[in-house]
Amino acid sequence: MNKQTVLDVDLQRKRVLVRVDFNVPLKDGAVADDTRIRAALPTIQHLLAQSAAVILCSHFGRPKHGPEPEFSLRPVLPALSELLPGRKINFAADCVGSAAANQAQSLAAGEVLLLENTRFHSGEEKNDPGFAAQLAAHAEIYVNDAFGSAHRAHASTVGVAKLLPAVAGLLMEAELRYLGQAVLTPQHPYVAILGGAKISDKIGVIQNLLQKADKMLIGGGMANTFLRAQGLALGASLVEESALDTARALLHTHGDRILLPLDAVLGDRFGADAKVQTIAVAEGVPDGWRMLDIGPQTVERFGAALHGCKLVVWNGPMGVFELAPFAAGTNAVARLVADCGATSIVGGGDSVAAIHGAGLAGRITHISTGGGASLEFLEGRILPGVEALNDR
Ligand code: 3PG
Repeated sequence: MNKQTVLDVDLQRKRVLVRVDFNVPLKDGAVADDTRIRAALPTIQHLLAQSAAVILCSHFGRPKHGPEPEFSLRPVLPALSELLPGRKINFAADCVGSAAANQAQSLAAGEVLLLENTRFHSGEEKNDPGFAAQLAAHAEIYVNDAFGSAHRAHASTVGVAKLLPAVAGLLMEAELRYLGQAVLTPQHPYVAILGGAKISDKIGVIQNLLQKADKMLIGGGMANTFLRAQGLALGASLVEESALDTARALLHTHGDRILLPLDAVLGDRFGADAKVQTIAVAEGVPDGWRMLDIGPQTVERFGAALHGCKLVVWNGPMGVFELAPFAAGTNAVARLVADCGATSIVGGGDSVAAIHGAGLAGRITHISTGGGASLEFLEGRILPGVEALNDR
């Protein structure tokens, strides 16, 4: 990465504004999954070890009408305090304004201040220079550790970076290093595994990774559209008619490297209590049935394709993972990815959930915290929040 990081600058006793991505799921008013908070800890701890005063800012959800209690970052405070035992963690009820400014200025070395949701101000998403200046005034240095928000050109991700020395945090650096391997410097053999409902959601990723990967394994709803493009009968399966030409063109140009399902688990309807059967896709899907997961022969085919690979990138489920009868394919792929011995990079909510659910997180080289950001990165796009950081 040609961007400066927290390791390149003197942070000793500095006031540091850190953009984190604390857009985490809540349940009953408490943090339900603290993965993104944990992911920011190495940077926070690095700063605290240098007696910096750490001012954290983040968006949370998509409030549309200014401060709305359901989008407050306050519930993150107990979760963060638990992860930083013995540290004083303060909360500012607004991210800018005189009270927040006073709290930031009087923050002692080694203390943390969490600012309220930046999206409570319309200037955030508009990347308003005045709003960015108010955020920047809290600190002497800006650190962006919010890889998950780096595809947003907002005041807290781009505007502030123009006003302060701006460097990457350790999470941002790790995300760029690993995802950078997937798009810039892959080791070969390199296998990409893509799933999810629609080709249109990931067309940029498919096209870009087909330039880099030796094989692309495709499952999930998007595989249906490829199979339909090959002329197979798919019953009531989801098929994206508008993407059929794209699928045909990709099969024409890269068909030798695209591996599709050989068999599928069908349901007679979309539901956990659906009737289920497994068929070979070449036989066609009976009327009224729909493909909702890959079958065991496909898992075997995908396992063989992964054999001996040096790099595997996986994004997207192989079926309707949230319904138990159709989760086996995604779970099997999670195991294949963990077991294949390659550098493994996994992103996307369902793929990551499958890895965690199977207790395999410790066997994956890098689990991305980015949703939209990692897809845009895998498309080969330059993320504005990264571009705004100081070059080395
Ligand atoms: C995410 O959850 O993907 C990031 O926090 C970005 O959120 P956004 O899509 O609301 O900008």
